[in-house]
Amino acid sequence: MQENFSLIIHGGAGSWEHLKREGYGSEIMDSVRRILEGGRHILATGGTALDAVEYCAAELEDDPLYNAGRGSVLNEHGEVEMDAAIMDGATLNAGSIAGVTTIKNPIKLARQVLERSEHVMLIGKGAQEFAKLCGMQQMPDDYFLVEHRVRQWREAQKLGGMMLDHEDAPPNKLGTVGAVAWDSAGNLAAATSTGGIVNKRWGRVGDSPIIGAGVLADNETCAVSATGYGEQFQRTVLCKMISNFVYFQGKDAAGAATAGIEYLVKKVNGLGGVIVVDHQGNCGVDHSTSGLIYGLIEQAGPSVCKFTK
Ligand code: GLY
Repeated sequence: MQENFSLIIHGGAGSWEHLKREGYGSEIMDSVRRILEGGRHILATGGTALDAVEYCAAELEDDPLYNAGRGSVLNEHGEVEMDAAIMDGATLNAGSIAGVTTIKNPIKLARQVLERSEHVMLIGKGAQEFAKLCGMQQMPDDYFLVEHRVRQWREAQKLGGMMLDHEDAPPNKLGTVGAVAWDSAGNLAAATSTGGIVNKRWGRVGDSPIIGAGVLADNETCAVSATGYGEQFQRTVLCKMISNFVYFQGKDAAGAATAGIEYLVKKVNGLGGVIVVDHQGNCGVDHSTSGLIYGLIEQAGPSVCKFTK
């Protein structure tokens, strides 16, 4: 039987020119295509939207090219502190973790919070303790300290400021990864994972693990994952706003993504991007940055991988 499904993944909003200059262009495209095809396999063989977004986000975390998991940016002390969240649109169950350090796949820990705890969000030492109870894979610090991140952190320390991950203009350098999916049963799910902002203050938590700000899934509306300047997505509760555009105004995924980015820019002059799949499996992507790395499959169609709209 031919299953119908849609899937979008993103590898962060930012400048393609910057990535090409650093020599990561074709590597990123190959990686996006490979991960998207892995997600396709899950959905095409009857897997759930929740399984597909967890798989895609975990694969993106394992690839040091992205600002999540292994490639996470470093905080002001030169350490990794990661945030992630996952949400099931069928039940509105969600799992979220913030400020974790040694967890190989923060998104898998978020899924455990969703499945095995009575809470939505765990942070810091409590989240680490829970990870041990769940038998999550942990890695030594040097697994996360990839060379280009250390270089980037030194640059930020010299400049004395925070940076988002790979945007050219200040406040520069954006990142974060995410996935949204619609499965053959009509269920939606969303996942977002990040190392946050380069040289961020110790203990800073961005939008990615905040339900409604950096991630949201609701079967009645859409699934959304965001990337960009987290404080701006928190202040505008942007993913919930995008869901509201579907709920109250009947917009489809593309219309809601565009309305969301317009709202982000109008309200806080925000910098970032969103991927959206709606309850009918339509896909939408928009951003206010110069580019967004993403790949999508709409209604079981061909894979489309792009660096911008
Ligand atoms: N959007 C990722 C962050 O600001 O942490």
